Amino acid sequence: MKRLEGKIAIITGASAGIGKASALLFASEGASLGLIDINLDGGKEVCEEIRKNGGKAEFFGIDVSNPEAMKGAFEAVADTYGGIDVLYNNAGGATPRDDYILKMPLDEFDHAIGLNLFGPLLGCRLAIPYMNQRGGGSIINTASIRSMIGTPGADAYTAAKGGVVTLTRALALQCADQGIRVNAIAPGAVLTERVKKLMEQDNDSGPTQDMIEKHLLGLGHPQQVATVALFFASEDSNWITGQVLPVDGGASVH
Ligand SMILES: NC(=O)c1ccc[n+]([C@@H]2O[C@H](COP(=O)([O-])OP(=O)(O)OC[C@H]3O[C@@H](n4cnc5c(N)ncnc54)[C@H](O)[C@@H]3O)[C@@H](O)[C@H]2O)c1
Repeated sequence: MKRLEGKIAIITGASAGIGKASALLFASEGASLGLIDINLDGGKEVCEEIRKNGGKAEFFGIDVSNPEAMKGAFEAVADTYGGIDVLYNNAGGATPRDDYILKMPLDEFDHAIGLNLFGPLLGCRLAIPYMNQRGGGSIINTASIRSMIGTPGADAYTAAKGGVVTLTRALALQCADQGIRVNAIAPGAVLTERVKKLMEQDNDSGPTQDMIEKHLLGLGHPQQVATVALFFASEDSNWITGQVLPVDGGASVH
């Protein structure tokens, strides 16, 4: 039996990188999917690929920090498929003007928090009532290795991801008696197209040489995070909640 057979999952940031790899993997494991992303072309392509392979997916070209748009998307997924069982809050990333605290334009903080912390909080707030109706569910948030160890230079992003860690624990406590598990993945440097570009530009919000050297097993690939997201989404992890799992090739051991 497929590991997500009969499950309905929402994945944010599903047009590229880790979210795209997860969407394709979750679909191949039998999930019906609601995919959210601001990248319309990428999202439609992922959706078409899933449908071509016999899977079920709907795409919503919206911003995760827009409460009304998110509400509409969650309602549409629940109406179309009959509920929501899994939420993978994956959309995020260092925002373009994020920097060391003394250099960062102050309004970039709101931008970073909106995408990386408010978006996931909104997703959780919308998904929990639907999960309650189904007798439980699994929420997977996305932190970062930056929330586990000190890494300077994308300070608003780092603060936002730290918030994701504590939000995850707080929600795990509140939701356990409703059968809803809440965990987070803290990726190390994963070679998505975005990260590859940052490395080419030698931009500080990408992995630094020091960070690269710390990855004992080398830099990661989107599929290596997607398989962990699948584990948290599935019943394989049904005795795990409130945890933040580094998926980082050993980088956080340093
Ligand atoms: N790749 C890494 O090295 C790395 C490391 C640590 C944490 N992460 C985290 O993993 C997650 C995925 O990262 P990735 O590298 O796959 O990113 P990515 O840039 O490859 O993909 C992110 C997707 O999110 C979408 N997105 C961006 N802003 C959005 C918004 N406001 N609303 C909806 N969609 C939006 C983008 O269009 C894109 O398709 C992020 O939360 C990121 O912070 C990644």
